[in-house]
Amino acid sequence: MDVYGLIGNPVGHSLSPPMHEAGYDELGLDARYVAFEPPADEGAAAVEAAQTLGVSGLNVTIPFKQDVLDAVEPAPLAERIGAVNTVDFSGDTPTGHNTDAVGAVRALSHHGVALSGTAVVVGAGGAGRAVSFGLADEELSVRIANRTESKAHALADDVPGATGHGLDELGDLLADADVLVNCTSVGMESDETPVPADALHGDLAVLDAVYTPIETRLLRDAAAAGATTVDGAWMLLFQGVEAFELWTGAEAPVEAMNDVLRANL
Ligand code: ATR
Repeated sequence: MDVYGLIGNPVGHSLSPPMHEAGYDELGLDARYVAFEPPADEGAAAVEAAQTLGVSGLNVTIPFKQDVLDAVEPAPLAERIGAVNTVDFSGDTPTGHNTDAVGAVRALSHHGVALSGTAVVVGAGGAGRAVSFGLADEELSVRIANRTESKAHALADDVPGATGHGLDELGDLLADADVLVNCTSVGMESDETPVPADALHGDLAVLDAVYTPIETRLLRDAAAAGATTVDGAWMLLFQGVEAFELWTGAEAPVEAMNDVLRANL
């Protein structure tokens, strides 16, 4: 049996075990997916221990995404982002990948969103960083807006072709934008939005990384403005789908994984 898993602290509420196991069941793979909670300063040690135990693959979440870089050979995108969320143990050395970036891109393209033109990313934390690199690799022009404007500029310096802005510029930035991704925590468990409703329009595709609630105020406002909406569960799904495919070499059963993910939300 192949064992996959997740390291995070805390991990108790993770949706990854049922989502991945739905994929194994659908493809008839003899595999299990387990959530582990190592001490907060032991991320690299946990990766080494997993390799020793013969674990096939690990997802990595907060607070370990940077620390595990010390224990893996990073893929180019993960190295540029400076964070790893997926470790593959199939070679002699564990390799580190970042499927958060590709997850956002695949969530958009799954909804028929063209990956060209201008994208506005709101937020310059870990999620904003991964998503900005992912979108820039698709040749979208990336505009990063953040409450703390200096962080938007710092991130924009790293992302090819990107520019940094304050939240006060969102109206102007969105007027001729094609894609908007919320990578802040605003709207999580609250009826708030980081984007003024009157800045949204029907030519936008709006992806919200927040998935609690599944329909955030931002997505409600976006739908009312006639925009294409993509909820945060799609991003969570496709970062998992990308890891699943990397580990198993099989095409992931997206529909089965999506059904179980949403049933567990
Ligand atoms: P994550 O890893 O999920 O991206 P993070 O690194 O803590 O989490 O980043 C949180 C993001 O949400 C940041 O961009 C933060 O803005 P600041 O850099 O100014 O802190 C943003 N954020 C959090 N609360 C916010 C709020 N009330 N209004 C606007 N932005 C907020």
